[in-house]
Amino acid sequence: MRRFFVAGNWKMNLLARSAVELAGALARAVPAAFPNVQVAVCPPFPYLPAVAGAVSGSGVELGAQNAWHEMPGAYTGEVAVEMLLDVGCRWVILGHSERRLILGEADELISRKTRAAVAAGLEVILCVGETLSQRQAGQTEQVLDFQMQGSLAGIDYRAIGRIVIAYEPVWAIGTGVTATTEQAQSAHSHLRKWLATRYNPRIAAETRILYGGSVKPQNARSLLEQPDVDGALVGGASLKIDDFLPIIRAAEGIRKS
Ligand code: PGA
Repeated sequence: MRRFFVAGNWKMNLLARSAVELAGALARAVPAAFPNVQVAVCPPFPYLPAVAGAVSGSGVELGAQNAWHEMPGAYTGEVAVEMLLDVGCRWVILGHSERRLILGEADELISRKTRAAVAAGLEVILCVGETLSQRQAGQTEQVLDFQMQGSLAGIDYRAIGRIVIAYEPVWAIGTGVTATTEQAQSAHSHLRKWLATRYNPRIAAETRILYGGSVKPQNARSLLEQPDVDGALVGGASLKIDDFLPIIRAAEGIRKS
């Protein structure tokens, strides 16, 4: 049985005070780990220590939105995985489409980061997903295969246990256009088959695959009920406690056989 995982990707939002307020409200709502759903928030780098303090002792885990794969040294403007662990991160988001498309990160770099993060003891939320033109050209599965192949290069069957996949169709991110439940289930099922072929059926059955892209309280339940959807990576709706909590509660209320 895969436990649900709902993670908030705050992106480049909030300031110190609002970050701590939001984290504090979430920690009060999730005072201890929920049995059926794991919960994490991923604030911007400067607020990681303050948010770590605000969620300390609660059921809310901490993640970062990016990392650099080299050991600490001369990499101006970058943050090492050791530093993330040092400030209390358990998770790091890697390969988000905003980093792929705006910052030009390619699968080769993402795989280096993934290997470094896992080797250091972090857990990774690895994002993949097609653009609108790729979907319209019928290339969705091909794009997902390519990204999985590239981003998971050098990740063996032991390391994959520390990785959660997030399927995030680019056309659904921040647009208000959510994938239909059929589109999400179809992509997730494809990713699970890929994991079975690349690794083995047990790993495919155990690896969690989150959906991301305009997840809201209104659509969370129907998405999370899909057999291969194991949680959500939530952007915009994770910035308001009144939007984020119902998504967590929707996951908490679903039992899959
Ligand atoms: P969104 O972002 O929920 O605002 O669409 C999701 C994400 O980019 O992780």
